[in-house]
Amino acid sequence: MDFNNFPKIQLPKLQLPRLELPEWLAPKKDLPPLVIGDLRAAVPIVQGGMGVGISLAGLAAAVAEAGGVGVIAANAIGMIEPDYYADGRAADQRALRSEIRRARARTRGVIGVNLMVAVNDFHELLQVVVEERADIVFLGAGLPLRGIPVAALRAANVKVVPIVSSGRAARLIFTHWRKSYGDVPDAVVVEGPLAGGHLGFKPEQIDDPAFALERIVPGVIAEVRPFEAEFGRPIPVIAGGGVYTGADMHRILRLGARGVQLGTRFVATDECDADPRFKEAYVRCRKEDIVIIKSPVGLPGRAIRNPFLDEVARGARRSFRCPWRCLESCDARAAAYCISLALDNARQGRLDDGFAFAGANAHRVDRIVPVRELVDGLKAEYAAAVEAAARSISDEYVRLVERWKSLKDEYGTALARLGELRNEYERAWNQRIARLKKDYENAWPEKIAALRAEYEGAWNEKVAAVREQYEAAVAALEQLRAGGLDLQAEPR
Ligand SMILES: Cc1cc2nc3c(=O)[nH]c(=O)nc-3n(C[C@H](O)[C@H](O)[C@H](O)COP(=O)(O)O)c2cc1C
Repeated sequence: MDFNNFPKIQLPKLQLPRLELPEWLAPKKDLPPLVIGDLRAAVPIVQGGMGVGISLAGLAAAVAEAGGVGVIAANAIGMIEPDYYADGRAADQRALRSEIRRARARTRGVIGVNLMVAVNDFHELLQVVVEERADIVFLGAGLPLRGIPVAALRAANVKVVPIVSSGRAARLIFTHWRKSYGDVPDAVVVEGPLAGGHLGFKPEQIDDPAFALERIVPGVIAEVRPFEAEFGRPIPVIAGGGVYTGADMHRILRLGARGVQLGTRFVATDECDADPRFKEAYVRCRKEDIVIIKSPVGLPGRAIRNPFLDEVARGARRSFRCPWRCLESCDARAAAYCISLALDNARQGRLDDGFAFAGANAHRVDRIVPVRELVDGLKAEYAAAVEAAARSISDEYVRLVERWKSLKDEYGTALARLGELRNEYERAWNQRIARLKKDYENAWPEKIAALRAEYEGAWNEKVAAVREQYEAAVAALEQLRAGGLDLQAEPR
């Protein structure tokens, strides 16, 4: 045994992180641009299309001028024309064409058109979008699957953006497009249940937290991601419905959305194309006035409650003449009122004969402002939200650094104690070994002497016994010889 070689205690080596403030503690406070293919909006705000004349060239151009995406809503747009009741289809097309041109004349910003898949003149209006080369067409209220003139849209460089309420709907559209057109849409709008207007949710889903915008956005992003890889281009997801402040925008963009779609906020602007009385309904309404209605087209919708809606809820029927079946799903004979007419009346400020669609946050509107002021306010709120988030992260970081420092001290103390223990151990080991060695050395001569004595004793005993046997044998031989045995004779 090698007494000098005792087991060593290995002291652990701890790599301590270097204390450097990370770059993200000084994050970018400006809103990022929204990029869809070769289109670029300086601020990632899409003004949601608001049908029956609420968002026309006036609002769309103002939003585009402020850096966002301005959107003209095409459904029942012909109601702003004098001859809608004579020829609704022609009026729709003429009005849409002229509004796109009016918007173009006012801005070089991004101008889109919102088109409901469910309208009966969908294809004619889409043709106008292609001919007028709108920058984007947003396709909502139904899934844009069959008969989409993808080649013509591509040739006119019109970006196509479906509006969905779930990841499942996005997947359906994208897989269908890939199969039928060998192409996919350029971006997606996901609209949550707090939006104004018709909603793509069942009534029981509207207040269910599982369908909240924050919950459905990641699902939609996950559904389009594989198509981004397959088609080699980003497919931005734009989220809307209840987005009211710059802080809301910050929250939604952090989920991975590339832009937001706002409706309610843009109604409460000077440039919104509705009558001031429509906008005033937003300023006046209280939270409890914002209700879910069942629209004659069979979908739930969110609106500001008023005597017209109360009357309808009590079962009253407003007689009307349906000039043409503008909406595929509308049964004019069974409908209590004409939704296009009611919305057109409201747009013109005649709220006794109609009602205002509005988002769940409309009760927060307290004044009508210019679009530029609204967008600047959103930018400032966004910057403040970024700063607040950075501050809370930096507070957390400072806390972590403090904890790290105290851990470092604890580690130092533990290390010193370990050193002491090692010394104690070495000392104890050396003492023990020395003692054992001494015991061994003391024990050795004694042991040798004892062994030798034992050996000699055994040896003498053995020799005596052998000698005894030898002498007995000699005596026996002597006896034989004395008896006449000739030991020299030859044996016979
Ligand atoms: C008055 C009004 C009319 C609307 N009309 C339409 C429409 O015709 N087509 C459509 O896709 N969305 C329509 N919407 C929904 C908006 O485009 C937008 O997605 C929604 O309002 C966003 O929610 P927010 O109002 O909470 O911002 C309408 C919304 C409002 C408030």
